[in-house]
Amino acid sequence: MAKAHTSHTLRGMPTLFTPTHHDFERFPATRYQGSKRRSAEWIVERLADLEYRTVLDAFGGTGSVAFAFKCAGKQVTCNDLLRFNHRIGLALIENRDVRLEESDIDFLLAAHEGVRYDDFIQRTFQGVYFTDDENALLDRLAVNLAAVRCPFKQALSSFAVFQAAIAKRPYNLFHRANLYMRLADVERTFGNKATWDTPFEAHLRAFAREANDAVFDNGLPCRAVCADALEIEPGFDLVYIDPPYVSASGVGVDYREFYHFLEGLVRYEEWPMLIDATLKHRPLARKADPWARAETIADCFTRLFDRFRGSILAVSYRSNGIPSVEALEALLRERKRHVVCHARAEQPYALSTDRATREVLLVGWD
Ligand SMILES: C[S@@+](CC[C@H](N)C(=O)[O-])C[C@H]1O[C@@H](n2cnc3c(N)ncnc32)[C@H](O)[C@@H]1O
Repeated sequence: MAKAHTSHTLRGMPTLFTPTHHDFERFPATRYQGSKRRSAEWIVERLADLEYRTVLDAFGGTGSVAFAFKCAGKQVTCNDLLRFNHRIGLALIENRDVRLEESDIDFLLAAHEGVRYDDFIQRTFQGVYFTDDENALLDRLAVNLAAVRCPFKQALSSFAVFQAAIAKRPYNLFHRANLYMRLADVERTFGNKATWDTPFEAHLRAFAREANDAVFDNGLPCRAVCADALEIEPGFDLVYIDPPYVSASGVGVDYREFYHFLEGLVRYEEWPMLIDATLKHRPLARKADPWARAETIADCFTRLFDRFRGSILAVSYRSNGIPSVEALEALLRERKRHVVCHARAEQPYALSTDRATREVLLVGWD
């Protein structure tokens, strides 16, 4: 996908820049809800005829599309509201050359002399998501992660911990207190018991290798940021928009609710103050996400399109969401001279079982 094109140095001098060729397939496999890993190359290819150099991935998630833009030699800013996703952006998008050693994983796993390890996860999540031994290890991992000094090593290590925690969860989510599903001695028709039972240590080392393999420098200063998409300063050549999805029946994906445990791991010190202890699965206290509600999502799109109206706008969407594709297209046409809607034949959504929907990419430019 990467090809030679005219670009500019940081001082504004035009150069012929050939991006470091990097295989998108090196992007780690992901179980993240709504990940576009399987369509990221398709998305970037649909934009190939447009002229742009700087890109904002406003709802970066795992960073899979930001990574495809990075492979294509673009100067990428990868944003997400959640702090654990920001760590992933640091590890795989902003990071150019830092990799983990086996000794970095040893550091995460060890109990270090003179360090006070809390038992917050053991006390709060007993019998909820992981076994007692795993909870004790997670308490240690959270404290050790906070002590890693190099931000990129910390980000890569965090990535490995998140992936391991997700891999060991039924449905790969933290939406229910359902450890019993993992432990029950029954015939299963779903999930992967072998993956659930693989020790954290083995998962950590494997995911650290995957992350290391994805680290590369495309010659441009790519960045990871952690903000509300509606508060980012405009000025990018292209803005890629892949917000939470609200289905036709009005059900939205609330990422903070699905992945609160990972957010807690990176906010370990403040976690006790953030939690809703009245609920069995101990999520973070609810903060309504206007992008995840049928009543407010259309207004969010309008405000986002207005904010970034000077940029090429590229929106990933599904054919049966709220608002409809037609309504979104109309919003774009009010602001852009050219609008096209590309439809993808495949069903590339991680975890999606809904075969009736199609993935689309709406693109508006002047
Ligand atoms: C559909 S997912 C993006 C998936 C991503 N393209 C990928 O391939 O992994 C939507 C993301 O938007 C983030 N998000 C939700 N509300 C946000 C907001 N107001 N500003 C920025 N990000 C937000 C969520 O944390 C989630 O990671």
